[in-house]
Amino acid sequence: MAKAVRLDKFLADAGKGTRSEVKKIIQKGQVQVNGVPAKKPEMKVVPENDVVVLSGETVGAAPEFVYYLLNKPAGCVSATEDRNDRTVMEYVPSDRKGLFPVGRLDKDTEGLLLITDDGMLAHELLAPGKHVDKTYFVRVEGKLTVENIRNLENGVDIGEEKMTMPAKVEIVGGSWEGAGDSQSGRVRIENLPEVYTELHLTIHEGKFHQVKRMMAAVGNPVIYLKRISMGPLTLPDNLKKGECRLLTEEELLRLKG
Ligand code: URA
Repeated sequence: MAKAVRLDKFLADAGKGTRSEVKKIIQKGQVQVNGVPAKKPEMKVVPENDVVVLSGETVGAAPEFVYYLLNKPAGCVSATEDRNDRTVMEYVPSDRKGLFPVGRLDKDTEGLLLITDDGMLAHELLAPGKHVDKTYFVRVEGKLTVENIRNLENGVDIGEEKMTMPAKVEIVGGSWEGAGDSQSGRVRIENLPEVYTELHLTIHEGKFHQVKRMMAAVGNPVIYLKRISMGPLTLPDNLKKGECRLLTEEELLRLKG
């Protein structure tokens, strides 16, 4: 027999928001069940039989897996729970069980983080040997010399058994002549050192603190770090710090490629 579920749970499981968010949406009268406005979050629906419409759009049964893209702000940890710090999960507009961040960004690192409950996909993206390219916007102290760039591109010693795999370096800004059109020149940033370099660094592996350790190894410590892409996913310009949204169908197709 088809199982009845609460309307707010049905909508939350379908990725339409957290339980408390969808409750408000229901109470505002934005949801119709079988053509009749529903005002009670506790109302029961049978997903196989009832037609639930949210703001004019029919809501299907809960997908097997959900995929969120977060622009992680600094100050939270990439974990599902933590005793001392805020976690990235606080930014996900869902309380669906089993969600977790795919990989880790340090507490002070910002940028693209995928959050899902699809363990197989996470494994495909993270398993050693299957690591996908990740590109970071990195601001470092000092001038990144041609020799340092060559070292990063060839592999550096970060204290592991092997040198790092070849990386891609593109200088995108900085304080010194020839460093390009500095992002920091357009946005006022506090406490910038007199000499700094901004680069896009693409790495293939995902070792602990890898970017910071690579840059420290060439003598240019990181002062700011943001992930701007992971495999086929790119951090959208319009996704503000702390904002989190479901992947679009196109992004999902590219990811599952
Ligand atoms: N490399 C780092 O050092 N830190 C991150 O958060 C990600 C990559």
